[in-house]
Amino acid sequence: MNDFVQVCKVGDIPDPGKQVVEVGERYVVLFHVDGQFHALDDVCTHDGGPLGEGCLEGYVIACPRHGAKFDIRDGRVLCMPAVSGTPSHEVKVEDGKVFVKLIDRPKKTYVT
Ligand code: FES
Repeated sequence: MNDFVQVCKVGDIPDPGKQVVEVGERYVVLFHVDGQFHALDDVCTHDGGPLGEGCLEGYVIACPRHGAKFDIRDGRVLCMPAVSGTPSHEVKVEDGKVFVKLIDRPKKTYVT
């Protein structure tokens, strides 16, 4: 799949907030922070934890299993025990609707 898919309306997710959506056969966490939307795979790269169930603080999502942290803007890993970023995807908003395109931006593979 390489096209934009409508996943929700802007008002469906509070700001700040997050929601897991389905894009093709993938589960993606859609984040709404400071009026912008960001999308990451709903998979922690440490051991597959569900990032959509984690705690969101600013632009940081913490995995609910062991606490690895990721930047929601690009999926880069910020905190062990994960050492690899998680894929981030393109998001656009048109006419109050939110669309996601799976692009699998290159993962950042280091802890900053
Ligand atoms: S599965 Fe996410 S930190 Fe372990």
